[in-house]
Amino acid sequence: LILIPPVLVLSLPVGNIKSSALSQLGRRTAEPAIAELMNAVLARPHLISLAAGFTDNESLPVARTRQLLEEVLCSPQAQGALQYGTTLGELPLRQLTAERLQKLDGSRGKSGVYAPENLLITHGSQQFLYMLTEALCDPGDIVLVEDPTYFVYLEILISHGIRTHGVRLKETGIDIEHLESVLKRLKRTGEIRRLKYLYLVTYFQNPSGITTSFEKKREALKLLKRFERAAGHPIYLVEDAAYRELRFAGDDVKSFLTLKGSEDRVIYTSTYSKPFATGVRVGFGLMPEPIFKVVARIKGNHDFGTSNLLQQLIARALASGHYDDHLTALRKRYAHKARVMGDALTEHFPMEVKWNTPTGGLNYWARVPANVRTGAKSKLSQLALANDVLYVPGQLCYCNDPDRKRPDNEMRLSYGNASEANIREGIKRLGSVLNKLIH
Ligand SMILES: Cc1ncc(COP(=O)(O)O)c(C=O)c1O
Repeated sequence: LILIPPVLVLSLPVGNIKSSALSQLGRRTAEPAIAELMNAVLARPHLISLAAGFTDNESLPVARTRQLLEEVLCSPQAQGALQYGTTLGELPLRQLTAERLQKLDGSRGKSGVYAPENLLITHGSQQFLYMLTEALCDPGDIVLVEDPTYFVYLEILISHGIRTHGVRLKETGIDIEHLESVLKRLKRTGEIRRLKYLYLVTYFQNPSGITTSFEKKREALKLLKRFERAAGHPIYLVEDAAYRELRFAGDDVKSFLTLKGSEDRVIYTSTYSKPFATGVRVGFGLMPEPIFKVVARIKGNHDFGTSNLLQQLIARALASGHYDDHLTALRKRYAHKARVMGDALTEHFPMEVKWNTPTGGLNYWARVPANVRTGAKSKLSQLALANDVLYVPGQLCYCNDPDRKRPDNEMRLSYGNASEANIREGIKRLGSVLNKLIH
């Protein structure tokens, strides 16, 4: 007998509407934490936000985009750009994306994995993640995530009533032994039949900055396969590579797609938001054919296609070399901003605080001593706010795992959007608050 605990239907305050007027999903969907953080920034213009997931304003490619849009609108495809398109996305962009991905992975020749036919263009990778979750999960199903993970994705899971377990992170990606013990436990209790996939942010992970090594990828995929008989269905691996191209040191790591056996198990998603312009919000997902069909139908219901104008803009940026030129400059910019934050951390943070040194992405992840809390209601957070500084409390990035307490002594510090002067000043103020609390 397999006992599945009932799905928790949270009754969230929903203004003065009677909750029975709403769907369960409507009731489960809380105000996104990110919205609260953004509102705090808007309400206090002096606030130094090291929390925002925004990218660097100054380097947004305004001139390039103006030129590319002009080209799009002067081309024979201009009318198509302003017309509805296909649900799957424009073929040239799907082809360019598949080729780019294959090249990034160092894979040559004809490979079915990188077929544009299995690549769906979406409104940012966020939309892809949402639709994929709808395609694969029912309320009560289980998804495994990194501990910590991308907190906006956690909110999608919560609002769909999906249960989560965290897999501990080590320096080179998830702790494979821990993954194995989680899988064994799920098998023992029979809950493995509700397990749908493992979601990993494999490059410069948001929030920890960690990149998953290729060896870890191989082991993780192998391990999931081992438990499929017990699950009674495939256990997919979802690779979110949102930050892959924002690398400013070290070598790229090949994706899960290059592994044997990935063809029918790996779902890969990434985005043109971060490396080009977050306001454009063009992303994509590459998946095995049966999943592709289902997600494409859901996309049909969502919006029957991403904006053609924006797709043509990105396709032109890729084909003309503007995209790569911009990316080269952007990487230098983030490398510099990361150094500015690193230097400020060394100068102002107490010795007891530890942090990673990112080689890509947008964030530092700092751990304070266990007796200091970083959560939204903590003294640290309140004092930081009183000093007009905002960070992302680490606790937000941990899923609701029944098997452990959510850690509350970490914070995500982003150098993406803040100016260099604000990075220095923000870290200085945070350092002074931390010194008071620790010493
Ligand atoms: C890990 C991760 N995945 C996906 C996304 C979604 O990005 P977009 O929808 O702009 O492609 C983000 C955005 O911050 C992210 O951090």
